[in-house]
Amino acid sequence: MRQLLLQYLKLFLLLGLGAVTAEHVLKHDVLASLGTLPLDGHFSFHDLSAAAMDFGNLSSFPPVAVLHPGSVADIATTVRHVFLMGEHSALTVAARGHGHSLYGQSQAAGGIVIRMESLRSVKMQVHPGASPYVDASGGELWINVLNKTLKYGLAPKSWTDYLHLTVGGTLSNAGVSGQTFRHGPQISNVNELEIVTGRGDIVTCSPEQNSDLFRAALGGLGQFGIITRARIALEPAPQMVRWIRVLYLDFMSFTEDQEMLISAEKTFDYIEGFVIINRTGILNNWRSSFNPQDPERASRFETDRKVLFCLEMTKNFNPEEADIMEQEVHALLSQLRYTPASLFHTDVTYIEFLDRVHSSEMKLRAKGLWEVPHPWLNLIIPRSTIHTFAEQVFGKILEDNNNGPILLYPVKKSRWDNRTSVVIPDEEVFYLVGFLSSAIGPHSIEHTLNLNNQIIEFSNKASIGVKQYLPNYTTEPEWKAHYGARWDAFQQRKNTYDPLAILAPGQKIFQKKPASLPLSSLQYLL
Ligand SMILES: Cc1cc2nc3c(=O)[nH]c(=O)nc-3n(C[C@H](O)[C@H](O)[C@H](O)COP(=O)(O)OP(=O)(O)OC[C@H]3O[C@@H](n4cnc5c(N)ncnc54)[C@H](O)[C@@H]3O)c2cc1C
Ligand SMILES: *[C@@H]1O[C@H](CO)[C@@H](O)[C@H](O)[C@H]1NC(C)=O
Ligand SMILES: *[C@@H]1O[C@H](CO)[C@@H](O)[C@H](O)[C@H]1NC(C)=O
Ligand SMILES: *[C@@H]1O[C@H](CO)[C@@H](O)[C@H](O)[C@H]1NC(C)=O
Ligand SMILES: *[C@@H]1O[C@H](CO)[C@@H](O)[C@H](O)[C@H]1NC(C)=O
Ligand SMILES: *[C@@H]1O[C@H](CO)[C@@H](O)[C@H](O)[C@H]1NC(C)=O
Repeated sequence: MRQLLLQYLKLFLLLGLGAVTAEHVLKHDVLASLGTLPLDGHFSFHDLSAAAMDFGNLSSFPPVAVLHPGSVADIATTVRHVFLMGEHSALTVAARGHGHSLYGQSQAAGGIVIRMESLRSVKMQVHPGASPYVDASGGELWINVLNKTLKYGLAPKSWTDYLHLTVGGTLSNAGVSGQTFRHGPQISNVNELEIVTGRGDIVTCSPEQNSDLFRAALGGLGQFGIITRARIALEPAPQMVRWIRVLYLDFMSFTEDQEMLISAEKTFDYIEGFVIINRTGILNNWRSSFNPQDPERASRFETDRKVLFCLEMTKNFNPEEADIMEQEVHALLSQLRYTPASLFHTDVTYIEFLDRVHSSEMKLRAKGLWEVPHPWLNLIIPRSTIHTFAEQVFGKILEDNNNGPILLYPVKKSRWDNRTSVVIPDEEVFYLVGFLSSAIGPHSIEHTLNLNNQIIEFSNKASIGVKQYLPNYTTEPEWKAHYGARWDAFQQRKNTYDPLAILAPGQKIFQKKPASLPLSSLQYLL
């Protein structure tokens, strides 16, 4: 009996030691094996903490290595290498765009981060003609795409509010802004993708060719492959835009006007809106690089309402057609029910308008207010419940703008392809609502997270069909609920394109098996 106990003790010791040594050897082996891969670019190990930072500034999980790809083949070689290590390796791979995620989505704890911006081998190429397009690297910033295409008098059709984001990063989410109502999100304006799958295969896909992978990757949160190249549809670029803001005192006429404008045949080129609670939004708004005299004019605009709504829109024009633009804008504005005397407008170049948030970024950076925590909450809300939501949230849960703008604007489902991976409500009109908070000062993070939670909890309890955009879920039940009836299809696609769950681990949807030696090899050890 004693003999037997001793045997067991030895066995346990061996098991314990075996695991520690195995893990140690494993990490060493991994790094050594990466060093043997034939690459055009290189791995680096000195910048691990930089690869663990993001715009959210709330989570930080260092990788073990950063790949600076010199070619698409480098990405394929690396992913294939990890794939061939099999399911007992815990190694994962995250493509990092510009790292503008909010909660660590572009990080890979203990894995490999691929710095997509290093991928310069895919040269940007503009193809003018009847249906113009540009081929751009997945790691290209949208500002560079705009800069290049403008040289041909062309530009992409659909945007995000901020252009210092990568092509692959926004296409993995959706890419929404004030043009979405007309052109659909950015994922509705892509003709073709080149993707490195979770098996390390390089696949070209489009609505005609490998269409399932094409749609899976669009809005796919990086789960099915790494977008190395995108073919983006272009249109003739206007030279100028008239940029207009008007204020509303009540939510009903604000949203009715927004909905009328997005459905009208002849309308504005960009339509958004924001919520101003307790007047702080007019003065304290990082998007308001608008007109120096505006804050003053706005503060002279008297009302005792605590919550105001601002409709923002633009009309594109070329200088020689300014008269026509004036008439069209006048006709459109005359149909709206904003508060008289609350009309502000300015004329700027197209690039100044599209790159507007960058101007605010520069100002905030100068004050040290850019690299701060951003506990943002982005929601997609059906039209049928937006009033219930607004009534409870604006002025009740939120008594203040809480250090950042609150965006609110409607889009049309008919401009979205429901075969992509992105989750949208089953209603023809739905709203994008963004609470874009900066956490500055003591307890600001906790305070904002608490408010976000109250908004989420209220939405869940009221069953008003609210989904997160740029979602932050951490458990499988939450992801299941997010995808609803589409969860099985989402899982199936994962199984097809990234069966070992190597890619984009920071989304926390699928978990790669932790590293452990197979039972058989433990038995062998003993
Ligand atoms: C100031 C600001 C304004 C914004 N405004 C808008 C807006 O108006 N509309 C909007 O839709 N979004 C907006 N966003 C959100 C933006 O779309 C996300 O931050 C998105 O993640 C893109 O950022 P990124 O290129 O840095 O990607 P990252 O944050 O680096 O990556 C995002 C996710 O995609 C994965 N990924 C990155 N590159 C690739 C690739 N090539 N292939 C496959 N997967 C990849 C990553 O692993 C990660 O999971 C804004 C963000 C900021 C910071
Ligand atoms: C937040 O940003 C600061 C300044 O850049 C940095 O020192 C800190 O490590 C960041 N924190 C996280 C969690 O990323
Ligand atoms: C556009 O590209 C040119 C070089 O072609 C560069 O000089 C310029 O700074 C770029 N502009 C922007 C806004 O990035
Ligand atoms: C509204 O703003 C004023 C001045 O900024 C502040 O004193 C007041 O407490 C705020 N009210 C609420 C309800 O937030
Ligand atoms: C993300 O979700 C987790 C789990 O629900 C939560 O604890 C965390 O606060 C969220 N992060 C933010 C920044 O909202
Ligand atoms: C997409 O929409 C079409 C038409 O409304 C519908 O028939 C189809 O079932 C939808 N598909 C998915 C996957 O939701």
